[in-house]
Amino acid sequence: MKILGIESSCDETACAVVEDGRKVLSNVIATSLEEHKLYGGVVPEIASRRHAESISAVVKEALEQADCSLDDIDAIAVTYAPGLIGALLVGVNFAKGLALSANKPLVPVHHLRGHIASNYISSDIEPPFLCLVVSGGHSHIVAVNSYTDFEIIGKTRDDAAGEALDKAGRTMGLEYPGGVSIDKISRQGDENAYKFPHPRVNGCPYDFSFSGLKTAVINTVHNAQQKGERINIPNLAASFQKSVVDCLMNNVENVIVEKNFKKLVIAGGVSANSKLREEAKRLCDKRGVTLYLPELKYCGDNAAMIASQGYYEFLSGAVADESLNAYATMPIDENYKTI
Ligand code: KG4
Ligand code: ZN
Repeated sequence: MKILGIESSCDETACAVVEDGRKVLSNVIATSLEEHKLYGGVVPEIASRRHAESISAVVKEALEQADCSLDDIDAIAVTYAPGLIGALLVGVNFAKGLALSANKPLVPVHHLRGHIASNYISSDIEPPFLCLVVSGGHSHIVAVNSYTDFEIIGKTRDDAAGEALDKAGRTMGLEYPGGVSIDKISRQGDENAYKFPHPRVNGCPYDFSFSGLKTAVINTVHNAQQKGERINIPNLAASFQKSVVDCLMNNVENVIVEKNFKKLVIAGGVSANSKLREEAKRLCDKRGVTLYLPELKYCGDNAAMIASQGYYEFLSGAVADESLNAYATMPIDENYKTI
C-alpha cells in the first residue's frame, strides 16, 4: 500500500511516498529556515506563506521521485496537529483538495506520532516499546503500546528540551536553531566547566522541567556581561547540553527500571543530538535495553515519517472527511475518531 504524506507543521514543507509504512520511495523537503535565521526563530507568517508557495511543487516532485502518479497512491496522510496553526492549515487544506479531487482516503496524523514512526523507516522495530520524544515544542516519555495506542508516562511542565536549547543558544549568540549550534560547538568544550541545577519536579516523578535550567544559563551570560567578563561559549554550551541530556536520561532510566521496558526509541528533532545519542547508548548498554535511533535524515521534520504513521493510522480506521481541521495543540494519546 502506498501512502503519500504531507507535513507543514513548522518551517519544512515536505511530501513523501512510503510503501507499507516502511519503505521510503521518495522524501522531498523544502525549508524556509534560512529566512527564519534572520529573526532568531521561526516567524509563523513567513512559514505559512512559504508553505503556500512551495507545496504544489514539493508534492509533484515527491510523486515524480517515487515514479508514481496519484492513481498509484492508496491514501493521503497529513499532519493535522500539533504545530503552527497557519502552517498546518496550508498542508491540511492542500491534502483535503488532493484527496477530494483524486477520490482518495484522507488520513490525519499527529506530528509527534510521525516522529516516532521515523524509527519504522530506520529499523524493523515494532511496538510495544518506550519512546523519548524530544522536539522543538515537546518533551515526552511515551509508552507506545501499539502503532496507534500511546500512553504518556512523563512530560515537560514548561519548556521543551529543544526550546530550552534554542533559547540558550540565542543567549550565547549562536545561530538559530540553537540546538544544532550547541551540539556543534560543544564538541570543542568542557562539559564539566559549569554546574547547572538538576530541577526536581513535584508530583509525577517522570516529568521534566527545563525553564529553570534555561534561566540559569541566561543569568550566567548576563552576569558575565554586566561584569565585563568573557565567557567561554564552547564550555558553557557543552555544560548546558550535558545538563539537558542528564535530565532526559535520568527520567528515562527511572522508567526503564521501574516499568521494565526492554526497547528504547528516541524521536524528534533533538534525537539528532550527538550527546543524547551517546548517553542513550550508554544507558541502554548498562540496563540491557535495545536502543533504536532514527537515521539523522529522519530526525528533523519530514513527510516520510507522516506517511509511515499514516499507513498504521489508516489500517486502524482513522480516516477524516472533508471537514478535517488543523489544531495547534493536541495530546499524543488522543485518537482522531474521539475528537
Ligand atoms: O522535531 P523538530 O525538527 O521540529 C519540531 O517538531 O519542533 O525539532 C526541532 C528542534 C529544535 O529545537 C532544534 O534546535 C532541535 O530540534 N535540534 C537539535 C539538533 N538538531 C535539531 N537539538 C540538539 N542537537 C541537535 N543536533
Ligand atoms: Zn517535529
